Amino acid sequence: MKQLILLVLVLITAMSAQSINSPDNKLSLTFEISDEGEALYSLTFNKIEVIKKSKLGLELKDIPSFTKDFYIIKTDKSTFDETWKPVWGEVKEIRNNYNELKVTLAQKNIPDRTLIITFRLFNDGLGFRYEFPASKNLHYFTVKEEITEFNLTSDHKAFWIPGDYDSQEYKYTLSRLSEVDALKGNNVNEISTKSIFAKNGVQTPLMLKTDNGLYINIHEAALVNYPAMHLLIDQSKSALTSHLVPDVLGNKAYLQAPAKTPWRTIIVADNAPDILMSKLILNLNEPSVVEDESWIYPQKYIGIWWEMHVGTGSWNYSDTNNVKLEGTDWSKLIPNGRHAANTKRTKEYIDFAAEHDFKGVLVEGWNVGWEDWFGNWKEEVFDFVTPYPDFNLAELSAYAKSKNVKLIMHHETSASASNYERRMDEAYRFMNKYGYDAVKTGYVGRIIPRGEHHDGQMMVNHFVHTAKTTAKYKIMINAHESVRPTGLHRTYPNWVANEAARGNEFNAWSSGNLPEHETILPFTRLMGGPMDYTPGIFQIKLDYFIPGKKEQVHTTLVKQLALYVTMYSPLQMAADYPESYQRFPDAFQFIKDVDVDWDDTKVLQAEPGDYIITARKSKGKNEWFLGAITDENKRDFSVSLNFLDDDVTYLATIYADADNAHWEKNPMAYQIKSYLVNADTILKLKLVESGGTAISFKAATKEDISKYKKY
Ligand code: NOJ
Ligand code: CA
Repeated sequence: MKQLILLVLVLITAMSAQSINSPDNKLSLTFEISDEGEALYSLTFNKIEVIKKSKLGLELKDIPSFTKDFYIIKTDKSTFDETWKPVWGEVKEIRNNYNELKVTLAQKNIPDRTLIITFRLFNDGLGFRYEFPASKNLHYFTVKEEITEFNLTSDHKAFWIPGDYDSQEYKYTLSRLSEVDALKGNNVNEISTKSIFAKNGVQTPLMLKTDNGLYINIHEAALVNYPAMHLLIDQSKSALTSHLVPDVLGNKAYLQAPAKTPWRTIIVADNAPDILMSKLILNLNEPSVVEDESWIYPQKYIGIWWEMHVGTGSWNYSDTNNVKLEGTDWSKLIPNGRHAANTKRTKEYIDFAAEHDFKGVLVEGWNVGWEDWFGNWKEEVFDFVTPYPDFNLAELSAYAKSKNVKLIMHHETSASASNYERRMDEAYRFMNKYGYDAVKTGYVGRIIPRGEHHDGQMMVNHFVHTAKTTAKYKIMINAHESVRPTGLHRTYPNWVANEAARGNEFNAWSSGNLPEHETILPFTRLMGGPMDYTPGIFQIKLDYFIPGKKEQVHTTLVKQLALYVTMYSPLQMAADYPESYQRFPDAFQFIKDVDVDWDDTKVLQAEPGDYIITARKSKGKNEWFLGAITDENKRDFSVSLNFLDDDVTYLATIYADADNAHWEKNPMAYQIKSYLVNADTILKLKLVESGGTAISFKAATKEDISKYKKY
């Protein structure tokens, strides 16, 4: 009898275990219900365990949680395969191919409600999410915490930044999971608005590497109406558990059935380039909801920006430090003489953009309020429509138009999201009136409504709201200090970029970015979407501008060029002063030539924290660009050009570090050489410490063939 019961039990368990494979059969996902009624999943890659049995569920407030007593009501399996075209991107077409398992669960003794867990298994990884069908016993509910586990097989190496409800602007640390100490991360004290919540908390995208050479990336896709997910590490057993960003009351999410969570994503590969090539996060997002996309375009831009970060100019017009938005007569303020966004300087930028074919000119500090914008937790800092007395907006917008250049709007909100929401329609109408079609937003400081965090449900909704509202006004948007991206640019292609990481600006006024920083970002922050990193700084040492200033960019000049290729974004700034480009016109030629929209991308060689070599083919043209970057170590590479078209001879213009260059000792020494190459060529690249190589390839003309030597 006992044996019979055992057999029945085994059979029931076997019946309740459900598996699917990826289309190429390399990945396998198993879902099962434990004897205790817990929902468990596990994942293998080529039969190697990636995620051990891990719990799924959510703790709810005031009503029974979705954590135990589960049984399966039904399972559905299906297959999906389609190819879609992004409005802009790294490749022309994206294949979205997965096998899906949908499990409908109920709980013993809790009638009239169900939970669906949907798994999608792609060749490059797994996505899964929770869905809450509308039912008699589930209407409005509050999520206390999500209990999604990622039980890893051992103490992997991790590229991590501290888990934080408000900032991602940290340096990365590489350590074992067991060694993570978020409170002692690299220079954590440099971050002014920070909310680190636990010693063992880290952010996603979390990049892991196993001792067996497997690469695992954990993040999320389609973050809408829900807080961002961080991860808590159980350091005794290499287990990760989700930790959601709370609101002012300590709750995590307020949902109304039917509802669904964002997708939890686990990208897996046995080589690092495949992680960078993954399109899983984009594929898990909904197709574009912007009907007419004709006004959305990738672009390079310049701007009145770096000079404020370096410190030769200021955002504020006067040095008064106590102003009120209403009732101040701005023309009566005493100018400080350093206000960068003045009419004359802006015209110089417009002229430079027109001469060198940049479409956009960002101008920061054009509008009133910068006198006390930061640190006061003030509700109404900016109105987004009143220029300073020395910025003639009407004249400048006409001048830009006459030169075929667009001014890019800047809306620093000072983190007062409430003020911005009240004023955004008027601000966007103002932009329409003056011919602006792109805005950079910013959320420096502590969030208002007070007590909310940058990455909580309220702000996630705010960021989506700005994407939708700008789309209504045909405006492209680039949000700084926002929640980190989760592929929503598929749904809102006017949401062209974000900051949401430690950008190049840190090199201007802090201990800076480590030489390895840009070799990590594509494996972490950029997994969710493009970054407005603002590359292109030529004048590496900043005492050139301000004697005695000790800060510098932690790369060579040539590495700054290579970033245009290794760091994908449809929006790329040439961030240095125009005067810096005038001093080095031959190196500037690469920034002028490099594209921002691509038909194809090949990550040729890469290792997180060490180096990245990427080649990209221009949209609609037979031109390629290659970028190679290294960390603090100098490295030599052999690169096969077999990605080029056969039977075509190309002229390769190679921008390389000079032999004696070094990011710290001699960062601006470079050499430019041109050769004839083809698909059989193997290039030898020599990168110095924190150096790079940037190459443009164009079909060689007859003249080129007679003029240049073969490589
Ligand atoms: C921080 C942004 O990242 C930076 O680009 C901007 O210049 C300042 N905030 C001022 O808004
Ligand atoms: Ca390294």
